[in-house]
Amino acid sequence: MLISGLIGDPVEHSLSPFMHNAAFQALGIDARYDLWHTAAADLPSRIATLRIEGILGANVTVPHKGAVIPLLGNVSETARRIGSVNTVIPRDGQLWGDNTDAYGFGRALGYVTGGAVPRSALVVGAGGASRAVLVSLQEAGVADIRLVNRTMARAEALAVELTEPGCPAIVAEPWSRLEEVASSARLVVNATSIGWHGDELPFAAAIIDALPGDAVVMDLTYRLTAMLRLASARGLRTADGLPMLIHQGARAFDLWTGRPAPIEVMTLAVREAYAARA
Ligand code: ATR
Repeated sequence: MLISGLIGDPVEHSLSPFMHNAAFQALGIDARYDLWHTAAADLPSRIATLRIEGILGANVTVPHKGAVIPLLGNVSETARRIGSVNTVIPRDGQLWGDNTDAYGFGRALGYVTGGAVPRSALVVGAGGASRAVLVSLQEAGVADIRLVNRTMARAEALAVELTEPGCPAIVAEPWSRLEEVASSARLVVNATSIGWHGDELPFAAAIIDALPGDAVVMDLTYRLTAMLRLASARGLRTADGLPMLIHQGARAFDLWTGRPAPIEVMTLAVREAYAARA
């Protein structure tokens, strides 16, 4: 049996085993996906075990997505730019790192826009999740990307870091300009940690009211947040974070197995596991 798993701390809450184990079963692949709770001090030895025969691959989650990079043979250009690896693939005795979060976000965006690339985007939040979203928007060719964060210095640093030659620029804006920026944004992404609980909003409700009528609103949270409810009530198109989760997982599955991931099976497994937990 081939083995894959998730390296992180904590990992117990993860929905990934449900989607990957369902996918292995659906395709008749003799493999399983485990949870590998790994403290920072144990990361090098954990990564070393991925070279063992029979390891299909691994996912990496917080807090190890950046720390894993120097432990790998090579990483993709996307992972280098985001500064984090979420997928490790053993290849010819080497460990290759990739980041499928950006791909997952791009696919989730494509579903909600019908494949159209928005002209302008406003990303709120400048933490780990935001980096993959910003790189995904650059790779999609979104011309006008604005970044707003409660702590503006963090947004400015991230905008400078990700604005490389040949990529659309990322412009950091102060929180005080949020409503004005929103008034011409075709896409808003909540990449803050606000929205997991209750009716909390990452910003004032007036920001949703300010958006153009054809805007898309996305939340990386796996639930119908207060922000998404407000946007839906206005008739805007919305998506929560589950499609991104599913498509980052599907891309990792493709990379490990060389076979197209059974997206529908994975979607059903994730939604069932999530509903059972909620
Ligand atoms: P993640 O990996 O999920 O992105 P993170 O790196 O801790 O988590 O980043 C959390 C993000 O949510 C940050 O952008 C944070 O803003 P600061 O950089 O100012 O801390 C944002 N955030 C957290 N609490 C917030 C709040 N109450 N209002 C607005 N933004 C908030």
